Amino acid sequence: MQNLMPITFEILEKDIAGRIGRLRAGNQTVRTPVLLPVVNPHLQPVSPAEMKAMGAEGIITNAYIISRSTQFRDRALSEGLHRMLGFDGLIMTDSGSFQLAVYGDVEIGNLETLEFQEAIGSDIRVPLDIPTSPEAGRKQAEDDLSLTLDRLREARENLGADAPIAGPVQGGIFEDLREFAGQMVGKMGFSFCPIGAVVPLMESYRYKELVRVVMAARRGIPCSSCVHLFGAGHPSMFALAVAMGCDVFDSAAYALYAKDRRYMAPSGSYRIDELAELPCACQVCRSHTAAELRASPDIVRLLSLHNLAVSLAEISRIRQAITDGVLWELVDERCRGHPQLLQAYRDFLERGKEIEPFDRSSKRRFFYRGGESCLRAEVSAFQHQIRRIATGRNVLVAMDGVKRPGYDTILLFKPPFGPFPPELRETFPIGQSEIPEWDDEMVVQGCLGLLALMDANPESRFSIFTHERWLDIVQKELPGCEVRYDRV
Ligand code: GUN
Ligand code: ZN
Repeated sequence: MQNLMPITFEILEKDIAGRIGRLRAGNQTVRTPVLLPVVNPHLQPVSPAEMKAMGAEGIITNAYIISRSTQFRDRALSEGLHRMLGFDGLIMTDSGSFQLAVYGDVEIGNLETLEFQEAIGSDIRVPLDIPTSPEAGRKQAEDDLSLTLDRLREARENLGADAPIAGPVQGGIFEDLREFAGQMVGKMGFSFCPIGAVVPLMESYRYKELVRVVMAARRGIPCSSCVHLFGAGHPSMFALAVAMGCDVFDSAAYALYAKDRRYMAPSGSYRIDELAELPCACQVCRSHTAAELRASPDIVRLLSLHNLAVSLAEISRIRQAITDGVLWELVDERCRGHPQLLQAYRDFLERGKEIEPFDRSSKRRFFYRGGESCLRAEVSAFQHQIRRIATGRNVLVAMDGVKRPGYDTILLFKPPFGPFPPELRETFPIGQSEIPEWDDEMVVQGCLGLLALMDANPESRFSIFTHERWLDIVQKELPGCEVRYDRV
């Protein structure tokens, strides 16, 4: 069952730092972003074949559990994983790392687990990395990372450069270690990079730290690599994670939530005992009332099916949003589902400079959805580019939209972007942005665009005409400028 086809990843479309890609491993090809549901062979509320029928292109299972099972070990070795599990899509196997981190007494070697994963025909194999707890101090994180990198090197040297092995990125909560780990894993030639040990952050809603850790790892990992967020998670955070550049998710949440009688929705979850209705289009929800579902002896399986359907649908929605260039709107919507997610989203927005180079320059639309929209990368990108416009001696900035004679340059104004030459009125983002009536936040942001343009053209004299309503803001944001206003 020797399999030396390298893992390859092609990027097809982009939005924010997210992408739609094609991941190839073994003789399997999947579209990303992709969700690999976790399959525990001992405990299958939903069978892998059913998962495939629901649209799961890949699954992940645990090689350590299989290797220790009298029931499955020999079958996996003789039949291969795909036959044993009845799944003909992509199968990734995890090593015993997580068990090692949780139970501490796992007796298994790095090459031993990788050879076992190869022998059972896994398409993507994971070495015995060391997941560092977010509570660990720096010394511990450094030692764990050093051992993880040694094991990755050992895997490369002994199993060949093309073996389909993942290169986990560890480093605890230390951003410089995460970045360094990403670089090293890239240098060693791993094109599939799981960001590890983030489950405890997600379980305790520490999304702000999740953003810090993922962005740091992303800075180190080459852009061309496929990024897997290990153990994620709930569908409400997929959009944000994709926006940060994560391509692959694997989650047991659908089954764990079901066991806990929890019903997933795209931006949160409910206790099934609290629901009077089942607000979902999946087959389970359309063929049961909430009361029937609660009373069913099959509730764990039914809730698992529903939770999985919601998770898979969210992945499809994200892919469509990338294709349409409207991922920001989806992230904005999802991150309002939980205060900690909203905080993480705001922190992510603050990283405009870091995100801007990844974002695409033209999109189908920009919907203004309140103050957070002012911080979107399209706004900072526009305000960067506006500096390239060379203005004449006397410049009219017609915030009121009225063109007047006697100026060398005439500019119109659209918040939250700022001033723009009339020739750009049909181009992105000016022409494709939908904004409601102006509000203070967007006008302040637009003034920053004007300030950038004025800074780039120190020889020009700017005359700003605005409605009286905006006079105070404009004078405050653009001190020392000539500002005139219409009384309307
Ligand atoms: N599953 C969730 N997190 C991790 C991790 O950091 N390493 C491995 N191997 N599996 C995981
Ligand atoms: Zn449903």
